[in-house]
Amino acid sequence: MKKFARIIGTGSYLPPKIVTNFDLEKTLDTTDDWIKARTGIKERRIVTSENTCDLALEASINALSMSELKPQDIDLIILSTTTPDKIFPATATILQQRLGASCPAFDVQAVCAGFVFALNTAQQYIENGSAKNILVIGSETMSKIVDWNDRSTAILFADGAGAVVLSDDKDTGIKHSKIYSDGNYLSSLHVNNNRINELGTIKMEGNEVFKIAVNKLSELAEETLKECNMTSDDIDWLVPHQANIRILSAVAKRINLSMDKVILTLDRHGNTSAASIPLALDEGVRDGRIKEGDNLLFEGIGGGFSWGSVLAEF
Ligand code: ACO
Repeated sequence: MKKFARIIGTGSYLPPKIVTNFDLEKTLDTTDDWIKARTGIKERRIVTSENTCDLALEASINALSMSELKPQDIDLIILSTTTPDKIFPATATILQQRLGASCPAFDVQAVCAGFVFALNTAQQYIENGSAKNILVIGSETMSKIVDWNDRSTAILFADGAGAVVLSDDKDTGIKHSKIYSDGNYLSSLHVNNNRINELGTIKMEGNEVFKIAVNKLSELAEETLKECNMTSDDIDWLVPHQANIRILSAVAKRINLSMDKVILTLDRHGNTSAASIPLALDEGVRDGRIKEGDNLLFEGIGGGFSWGSVLAEF
């Protein structure tokens, strides 16, 4: 009998420190008006002393609480991050110990597409019967790899975490998922460290990334809908990676989806990389917009490049 990977709990966590565009005006040659108009971002959260696992732990506790499962009920932890606490062990392993779980745990790294890659991975374990309950997290401290003197990237990236608990379900859940990578785009968006013991910073060709993001995300949404025999009318909510309001508007327009059906947190969260989709999902679930039975389309694209989508009935 077919099993579906169904989301039964969501959770999120943001570090308390808010950095507004006005704060950035003090250290960078930029303005609140420029940032709002070009990106849609007004403020973002930045860690002070917290690490990626600290944020992941809080988001996981919240997701587990909604799912009414205990850490011991979890069969697998998959954590997507670009900013792990350490080179090793995996941040997922540190989280496993801190949660009091005893299951296998590993990290997935696909930058801003990380959460979609992690969901796609978790789906395989549930569908083939090797796991019943999986905790999937996107957690990032992007502020640690931002060059705070580079106005073209410092205004975008931020910190936060989101998590979901997936459980096997005989009726519904993830209906479709697809992931892609193409390393030919490395120079468009990457971190410039060449040695494993040196922490580099983000280097980005913003215009190039913008065009590629719009094209890849639009094509992927069209492909996903076609393969599911659906149209954009069947989508209740697009829960996208929050990169730039102009990217999201262009994608919504291309696939004929009203912006009223897009969950947006970008204005308050900025680009939190792998955390942005589960942060937006949790907000939509907790404020009551996302309801049981809704069709959700998750989409993300990230550094150098990886991109993917997941279509799930909530
Ligand atoms: N404040 C003021 N001016 C700025 C700033 C800033 N923070 N940054 C750049 N500018 C200037 C540029 O120097 C340029 O000046 P010039 O015309 O005198 O040369 C001018 O503004 C226009 O620069 P562009 O790079 O053409 O501006 P654009 O409209 O493309 O916006 C941005 C830049 C916001 C980075 C945009 O390209 C973008 O969002 N790209 C996508 C990047 C992205 O989302 N990356 C996230 C990771 S991947 C992903 O998540 C999809």
